Amino acid sequence: MRITLSANKLLTLKQKGCIFMLNEKLLDVLSHPADGAISIVTSGDDGPHVVNTWNSYITVTPDDKLLVPASGFVKTERNLSTLNDATLSIASREIEGYKGKGTGFIVKGTTRFIKSGEDFESMKEKFSWIRAVLEITVTSAKQML
Ligand SMILES: Cc1cc2nc3c(=O)[nH]c(=O)nc-3n(C[C@H](O)[C@H](O)[C@H](O)COP(=O)(O)O)c2cc1C
Repeated sequence: MRITLSANKLLTLKQKGCIFMLNEKLLDVLSHPADGAISIVTSGDDGPHVVNTWNSYITVTPDDKLLVPASGFVKTERNLSTLNDATLSIASREIEGYKGKGTGFIVKGTTRFIKSGEDFESMKEKFSWIRAVLEITVTSAKQML
């Protein structure tokens, strides 16, 4: 069985000393109880396209993929079917950065829209309103602040 991690479970496992390959601070941002908006940028014929999700909506899989619940993301899906590169801005005002409180990352990754299977079903349990799950395989995560 595949286990996915909500922000709360992620926090518990991190407190127990479990190791993830994703940048530790990025995981801190994703699991912080104070929520924040994430921007997801794709490219289309007409230029960049921006959508959002919430930090608390992201589920991290044990193999370090990010799962995002999708009710909309229609144009995003269309863009990704042509150019499969997404760029995300993920930040927290509460986590310590290079210059005191406040940090954030530019995350790049490749993607897949999942519409069935275990990851889809486990996300559907949490977010009954989804039509799909945007799965992001992180290729880089750069701390910007
Ligand atoms: C703060 C915030 C969080 C959002 N979270 C989600 C989300 O988790 N899933 C989703 O499908 N749309 C979410 N939306 C709406 C999307 O940003 C987007 O506008 C919508 O899905 C249409 O996407 P499209 O232009 O790619 O078709 C959110 C919007 C905001 C402002």
